[in-house]
Amino acid sequence: MILVTGGAGFIGANFVLDWLASPNAEGVVNLDKLTYAGNLTNLQSLQKDSRHIFVHGDIGDKALVSKLLAEHRPRAIVNFAAESHVDRSIHGPAEFIQTNIVGTFNLLECAREYWGGLQGTAKEQFRFHHVSTDEVYGSLSASDPAFSETNPYEPNSPYSASKAASDHLVRAWFHTYGFPVVTTNCSNNYGPYHFPEKLIPLVILNALNGKPLPVYGDGQQIRDWLYVGDHCSAIREVLAKGELGETYNIGGWNEKANLDVVNTICKILDELKPRADGKTYAEQITFVKDRPGHDRRYAIDASKVEKALGWRPAETFDTGIRKTVQWYLDNPLWVDGVVTGSYREWLDKQYQS
Ligand code: NAD
Ligand code: DAU
Repeated sequence: MILVTGGAGFIGANFVLDWLASPNAEGVVNLDKLTYAGNLTNLQSLQKDSRHIFVHGDIGDKALVSKLLAEHRPRAIVNFAAESHVDRSIHGPAEFIQTNIVGTFNLLECAREYWGGLQGTAKEQFRFHHVSTDEVYGSLSASDPAFSETNPYEPNSPYSASKAASDHLVRAWFHTYGFPVVTTNCSNNYGPYHFPEKLIPLVILNALNGKPLPVYGDGQQIRDWLYVGDHCSAIREVLAKGELGETYNIGGWNEKANLDVVNTICKILDELKPRADGKTYAEQITFVKDRPGHDRRYAIDASKVEKALGWRPAETFDTGIRKTVQWYLDNPLWVDGVVTGSYREWLDKQYQS
């Protein structure tokens, strides 16, 4: 067994689906609080798969986490659970502190206690994999080299500060207690099951619904985009072969300005689903007020994970973004459930206390 936290969210669900796609995969206990970002329909294809055990709960719940560890005796924990949206962290940082910092602390303490009771190879082979972000390194100017693992931490938003704090806790648990951790710091992901509060799915869905495509500020902020399946393969590599106590930057070598990303999506939609009035989707682009404290540029130097573990992304931005747009066109039921909020109705019914 492995224990995955946050496995009903965007990356966590992709990870669980990819993991269990292999017939010989170990089972997954999936602990998720089902916040607005958690969506069990992401995992619908696993309904009859006995290797997947879903548990509705909070990584901050000590009794629950300890019980799960004692019951399922996982050989690894992969921690995706987090509040993940920068704009939400600006409007309301409290949940970010609670889950990303206090929650990670609780998970580390429960896991350390469990690991302390293991013997022999079970103890030697145990891993705690913390999934983090490139945003902890702050913002780059146009001429700065890409982030390497030795860049100082300079987080600028409540979200990135809370992730930075969690990374520091994970690091300290290794150095102080010898607790077996690895951390990955990844760039911007995109792909199936991405919640449409984030730029790429928001633009796809707004375009199709005839709504404005909101571009913050001048649209020249740069992000390094990685297809979510590539992030999942990198996590599997690091979990299997990463060195204890090390951090690995994961990225796609795909630096793009936001406006270019939006224009690319518009062009693909013009081709795959042209507007009825013959106009281009790019006409829906609208420049709006900038995000406060908006980081100008992120770029990842992923050479360490490439050299040490031989990982490289399989998708380019061109192949990945086309697949992604096609996925949103092919999955109207998922889209409808998310847009109308109906994905929460049965969750509320199922999980009301
Ligand atoms: P997401 O917001 O889509 O999903 C987060 C999941 O965590 C949801 O299912 C939510 O219900 C769950 N969750 C939240 N609080 C919880 C708690 N207290 N206990 C248990 N579950 C809880 O996020 P995502 O985009 O899938 O990101 C997953 C992880 O990867 C996060 O740690 C994020 O910081 C990191 N990350 C994301 C990106 C990206 O581009 N999305 C890039 C790099 C790193
Ligand atoms: O870099 C990794 C991070 O990427 C992850 O750690 C975060 O969890 C993830 O949300 C993402 O953060 P960003 O803030 O970069 O992603 P977002 O999709 O919110 O925004 C991408 C860029 O697009 C950013 O520069 C802000 C801009 N943007 C975003 C939205 C939602 C717009 O211009 N308009 C929008 O409507």
